[in-house]
Amino acid sequence: MNAPALPEEGLTDLSLVAKLGAAGAVSTRRLRDPIEHLAWVESGAPFEEAGIVGFLEAIPSQVEHVSGDEVAAALESLQDEKDLGEIYMRRAPRRSRHRRGEYYTPAWLVDLVLDRGGYDGGSSLVDPMCGAGAFLTAALVRARRRNPRATASDLVRQIQGMDLNPLAVLMARASYLMALLDGCAAGLDRKTHGPIRIPVHSADAILSPLPRQFDMVAGNPPWVGWESLSAEYRETTRPLWLRHGLFPEGARGSAGRSSGRRMQAILGRGRKDLAMLATYAVAESMLKPGGRLGFVISQAVFKSVGSGAGFRCFVLADGTPLKVLSVDDLGSRTPFPGAASRAAVMTLMKGERTQYPIPYSIRSGDGVPRQGIAQPVDPLDPTSAWLTGPSDLVGSLRRVIGSSSYRARAGAYTGGANGVYWLRRLGDDGSVANIPGAGKRHVPQRRGRVEPDLLYPLLRAADIKRFHAAPSGWILIPQDPIRRRGIDERIMSERYPLALAWLERFRAELAARRDRGTRSLVEAGAPFYSIFSVSVETMATWKVVWPRIASRVNAAVVGLHEGKPVVPQETCTFIACETQEEACFLAGVLNSSLFGEAAASFTQVGGKSFGAPHLLRHVAVPRYDPARASHSRLAALVRDLGPALSIRDLDAAAAAAGWPPEPGGSAKSA
Ligand SMILES: C[S@@+](CC[C@H](N)C(=O)[O-])C[C@H]1O[C@@H](n2cnc3c(N)ncnc32)[C@H](O)[C@@H]1O
Repeated sequence: MNAPALPEEGLTDLSLVAKLGAAGAVSTRRLRDPIEHLAWVESGAPFEEAGIVGFLEAIPSQVEHVSGDEVAAALESLQDEKDLGEIYMRRAPRRSRHRRGEYYTPAWLVDLVLDRGGYDGGSSLVDPMCGAGAFLTAALVRARRRNPRATASDLVRQIQGMDLNPLAVLMARASYLMALLDGCAAGLDRKTHGPIRIPVHSADAILSPLPRQFDMVAGNPPWVGWESLSAEYRETTRPLWLRHGLFPEGARGSAGRSSGRRMQAILGRGRKDLAMLATYAVAESMLKPGGRLGFVISQAVFKSVGSGAGFRCFVLADGTPLKVLSVDDLGSRTPFPGAASRAAVMTLMKGERTQYPIPYSIRSGDGVPRQGIAQPVDPLDPTSAWLTGPSDLVGSLRRVIGSSSYRARAGAYTGGANGVYWLRRLGDDGSVANIPGAGKRHVPQRRGRVEPDLLYPLLRAADIKRFHAAPSGWILIPQDPIRRRGIDERIMSERYPLALAWLERFRAELAARRDRGTRSLVEAGAPFYSIFSVSVETMATWKVVWPRIASRVNAAVVGLHEGKPVVPQETCTFIACETQEEACFLAGVLNSSLFGEAAASFTQVGGKSFGAPHLLRHVAVPRYDPARASHSRLAALVRDLGPALSIRDLDAAAAAAGWPPEPGGSAKSA
């Protein structure tokens, strides 16, 4: 076995504080020379004298790597350092913590998880990814409260933890030890209980679970995307993802599952999170039948269209069902500063099937939870994204949920090379300068000329407001919208030699594009300058457009600009329309309160895919009918008043136009 790694830079002192603090809690002895003192602590002697064995097992020794001053400073600071987890969160570099999904849970949230799981301290509990031990110490407090006479050896059998980060293991052992001592006025008397081992195991809970099962599994598993895992860890865990049906190739044919091919299509997209695998793996290995699991988890697992579907099956690989008992959505106020996703507390029970609707509470801005329900947006597909909200709202939303006959589309995607295609016009003759920092990769600043025919007004997400959109630049579109790939090079060199020369100057940058869209085009033989997601619809005269990343839909109508169709960029979603009236009507429906509530009920508000084209697969936006006066009236209101149209008047006009449809009617026929 490899020697455990030393703590990363900046955390050496934290590791020292945890070691020296734990030793100080069990022994008053202090050697005069700091290094000798540390060597004595690291020998394990103070712990063994107190009847604790293996305290520093799997924890790297530091005595060879630190100075006497550092040890003295750590001893000095012991007075102030109370909550090791909190100190860790403050000190550990944010990037590496984020990469490893290390967000320690505040005490109020730990209590919520334990309360929801009905944990009163009378049964066994494991936190399989325990960090600095917040769940373990809270569980110990409950166990002590319930049975003040519980001995240390009872408690170490009852409440256990695991982590794969040695520093977390050390901090959790130190916190656990202090919590044990807290309730033992007489200290740990080895005569009454014999040697004990602080039960925080240094191991990977997914790959090497403990060989026993517990009444409750509680914790906050790491939220780390599949793509952020190391290649080695992806390979090692792949069979487990497949086994639990969290990956397309592993889709099992159990009831309620979509067919393998469909799963391929939907699970291929979106973010698969290590927390999903952690839930399934530990529920299978370490949770007793009938036991409860309470995890702090990203709300995305309930709402993401593709990647969450496997998770929402709630059946373990061996066929054991999991029953989701409740979800507490913590709303937009994240308890984890710096974490991008919304947090939720999920409580489930092993051995019964999930029944919809599920109690689902949501905390709004004031932090007060409001009770609601959750159910799959598609009643025929239990793995579809969840529709959530107050129960009466979910009932009325059902009337507008369904697929629309309109199709929304994503804007043009340059594959991260916006700096090549996004241009400032310097004159009417096609003189242009690029916007070098516009894309993922910075490209050199250049000036040149291109044929004006290939320049189109560029609409960025920031250019769109509710009922108002105005392009703020130009985009070079060397694209055949019918074949959905770059114009053939031969034609380019005959008709658009200037644009071809411009693109040639960026050949290296374009060849370096790594996105799936443009790469698949180029690998299939399309010209090196092909752009993704440019079709005849992109070139439609009238469109209704809205930003994809948002916390509400703000739709606007765009027509021609300087006589040319406006091209929305990739972070915009649009619907191509036949007429201005149709676009105005759709903008009215999309900006209505009802559409906003429907969208918010099954998507991740504020997330990267909130306003993505999938919205129209689940909200049955009615088709514009010019023969219906109520439809034309709504369109005229939007056209004439635009941003001045009040939400009340808009909702009234939308309702008159059959949105929402009468009970029993369908939105499509409204
Ligand atoms: C989000 S933190 C939560 C820590 C703690 N449960 C809490 O809530 O304060 C996740 C922890 O999981 C640990 N971890 C990540 N993958 C693990 C694995 N496969 N097995 C055990 N621990 C793991 C990390 O080291 C980190 O301490």
